Amino acid sequence: MKPAIDPWTTAQIENYKELFDTFGIKPFTPFVKKLKDPHLLMKRGVVIGHRDFDRIYDAIKNKEDFAMLTGLMPSGPFHFGHKMVADQIIWYQKQGAEVFITVADIEAYAVRNIPLEKCRETAINEYIANYIALGLKPKKAHIYFQSDYKKEYYRLKSMISKRATLNEFKAIYGDDISPAKINAVLHQVADILHPQLPEFGGKRPVIVPVGVDQDPHIRLTRDIASRASEFDFILPSSTYHRFQTGIRGGKMSSSKPESFIALNENPEIAVKKLKTALTGGRDTVEEQKKLGGTPENCVIYEFYLYHLIPDDKELKKVYENCRAGKLLCGENKARAVELLEKFLKEHQKKLEKARNQVDKYITS
Ligand code: TRP
Repeated sequence: MKPAIDPWTTAQIENYKELFDTFGIKPFTPFVKKLKDPHLLMKRGVVIGHRDFDRIYDAIKNKEDFAMLTGLMPSGPFHFGHKMVADQIIWYQKQGAEVFITVADIEAYAVRNIPLEKCRETAINEYIANYIALGLKPKKAHIYFQSDYKKEYYRLKSMISKRATLNEFKAIYGDDISPAKINAVLHQVADILHPQLPEFGGKRPVIVPVGVDQDPHIRLTRDIASRASEFDFILPSSTYHRFQTGIRGGKMSSSKPESFIALNENPEIAVKKLKTALTGGRDTVEEQKKLGGTPENCVIYEFYLYHLIPDDKELKKVYENCRAGKLLCGENKARAVELLEKFLKEHQKKLEKARNQVDKYITS
């Protein structure tokens, strides 16, 4: 049997609404209005779904203790698709969350065949350094490796294994589930639940911001949490974001260099890549002037939306001018190139400074 979403192979989600209806994920929109300071990605419909975000909303509003946990697969360069997650992590830290980030090196070893030393190197030089350069603060932030952490975490991982059946694993992950995958999944369940153990801060709401492909893990974690009554966990909450499109369409993926721009990419190469981006333009200039472009299908517009144009009014202007046929792709790409270059140059200066801060963040 093939599951509807497979966290290890699902490439792109065609229809979010259908998927949400099937699995009971709720739309995020009500919180965009309620939150005092919603993240840009929330306002712009990139964070689109949630489970039990109410608890997190209340904790933020009442300034109560809560934690954020998410994980990274250290499989290659840190690119703009990863930045989007980092931006959310940093936002939660500003909202008062205690931040936990797991480096899923055991998962990467199990499903991507990446040696642990290589995982460590990539996590430090690519991910952690970039998180710091983007604004993650060391206070109330813990980054750890699945392969090298505290004993209470491993005890939890062993104990929760009793709260699921093999048939359940098969139903969620399909028939090619293996011992290594089961182990990686148990790690992820322990990742998500451990911030509620007394040794790590105690019972409290935990938010897990992820891509929709991770929802099978979230569902299983919530089921296991509700059965493991001896621990008295609050069911973890989650949000789901849309994935950023690759430069030429399709998925932005670490294993396809032409599909992404890395945050430490040589700006000249980055600009060359961006120039090849798929746009929502028409076949001819005449047609585009007459009919307008379609920003919804434009990778450049998506770069603005996710990263390069934080000002809402300015973004709206781009959208309207494109639709009206006043802003053509050539002119627009020239502007995107300028914004990208500026961003990369400034970021890369911060990145160099961030490199010697990494130790302050790692817990073992
Ligand atoms: N499985 C995640 C990925 O493929 C990484 C991960 C491990 C994770 N543990 C986690 C994500 C806990 C969220 C919460 O990227």
